Amino acid sequence: MAYTVVIFGASGDLTSRKLIPALYSQFKKNTLKEKLQIVGVSRSQFEHDQWRNALRETTAKFANEHFDDESWAEFSQNVYYHAGDIKETQDFHELAVFLEKIEEGKPCGRVYYLSTMPQLYEVAIQQLGAAGLADDSVAFRRVIIEKPFGTDLKSAQALNESIHKVFREDQIYRIDHYLGKETVQNIFALRFANSIFEPIWNRNYVDHIQITVAESVVVGRRGGYYDEAGILRDMFQNHLLQLMMITAMEPPARYDAALVRDEKVKVLHSVRKMSGGDFAANTVRGQYLGYLDEEGVPPNSVTETYAVLKLFCDNWRWKDVPFYLRSGKGMSCRTTQIVIQFRQVPHILFGQKTRMPLGNRLVIQVQPAEGIQLHFETKVPDSEMKTRTSTLDFDFNAMTHGSIPDAYQRLLVDSIVGDASLFARSDEVELAWSIIDPIIAAWRSPAAPTLYPYETDYWGPTEATQWMADQHREWFDFC
Ligand code: BG6
Repeated sequence: MAYTVVIFGASGDLTSRKLIPALYSQFKKNTLKEKLQIVGVSRSQFEHDQWRNALRETTAKFANEHFDDESWAEFSQNVYYHAGDIKETQDFHELAVFLEKIEEGKPCGRVYYLSTMPQLYEVAIQQLGAAGLADDSVAFRRVIIEKPFGTDLKSAQALNESIHKVFREDQIYRIDHYLGKETVQNIFALRFANSIFEPIWNRNYVDHIQITVAESVVVGRRGGYYDEAGILRDMFQNHLLQLMMITAMEPPARYDAALVRDEKVKVLHSVRKMSGGDFAANTVRGQYLGYLDEEGVPPNSVTETYAVLKLFCDNWRWKDVPFYLRSGKGMSCRTTQIVIQFRQVPHILFGQKTRMPLGNRLVIQVQPAEGIQLHFETKVPDSEMKTRTSTLDFDFNAMTHGSIPDAYQRLLVDSIVGDASLFARSDEVELAWSIIDPIIAAWRSPAAPTLYPYETDYWGPTEATQWMADQHREWFDFC
């Protein structure tokens, strides 16, 4: 069966930088065996060729696969543009006619990609339903929804409810691009395709886990959006909690969308609710110096650009093992990493000749230094029994000759072939909000913990370093 991907919000950055380059790369690799058509929809008026020409430039720049004119000509002949306003019912009827025309009346699976302003998701879905575009009696109809999925639990529930009036849950693909990252999927392989890690992946051997998403960029021109969102909505409700779920989940019986997501959801169910003094004791909040001067940010804003959450999973595997989730803008470097810090050895048998080793550490580098490192103690050569830390280093990039596919490549193909394993389910999104909402509320209350200012190009507030030291632990700050 042929496929059509319809992108709403086609004139936006995401389409030109990510979606079209990803689809072109998959076309070049011949991943999809059947004909693929792409229709961009937004309000601006373009001729098909005008849009194709604009996309040619950005695709040449951003595609993972080597760009060449011949394959672009072949790919782009199936790229169309259709002007339309999401608020206009008539435009959806015209879109339906246009789609029938290019599909030549043959059964053709469709993916509708909502890359619009989030305020338009609901109306776009209603319009798709009213125009009969969600009817999958002849061929599949799926919808991809970009983040943010709501701004809190209530709005996410309302959005789920209104989408479910038009699309069944199995037709809905809520995107979190972190799940499309190869190194994130590699965590499944690391944990469930090896027998040596799983037996020690628990409270008996693990002291704590650090999940860090550090960004060197600052808010820049996104001040208006960012100040409303803050780092908990922008990064924690989605990306950080996704990384935590994959790190903490039980092995599913099969790699299957329902089973994988069942296990992830169980992790969220187990997250200990914070109350009373927990919000001050188990969170750190910061704002980089200079944030208040960003365009669109009110001069008295108390929005966080840095946060740490210390979470616990109350279940058999993880009881009392802290999960430190940390993210910030304006940090020393861009790095996403998961550190599994194992316990120290119970007893040192080398007397005074050796220092107390820190404990083994497994570091999963999600980006940009994609790889995995295992830190362990070795003997210092030519010493009595002194030890030092050495590293086994696996470089993920070396396997792909330096061109790891972009996250959107995987996710777009999965949505077309109908594999929802790497997309968030309705209960997952709602549970994630139910963890984040009370923290945001506490941070907006008179009892909010101090908002620490921090210098950019550093690892966030120095208070966060001290806070960790007070727990006899240290951050693994690696660039
Ligand atoms: C987005 C956030 O979801 O993720 C941005 O809105 C953030 O603020 C971005 O910069 C980070 O994604 P990546 O893939 O660059 O780590």
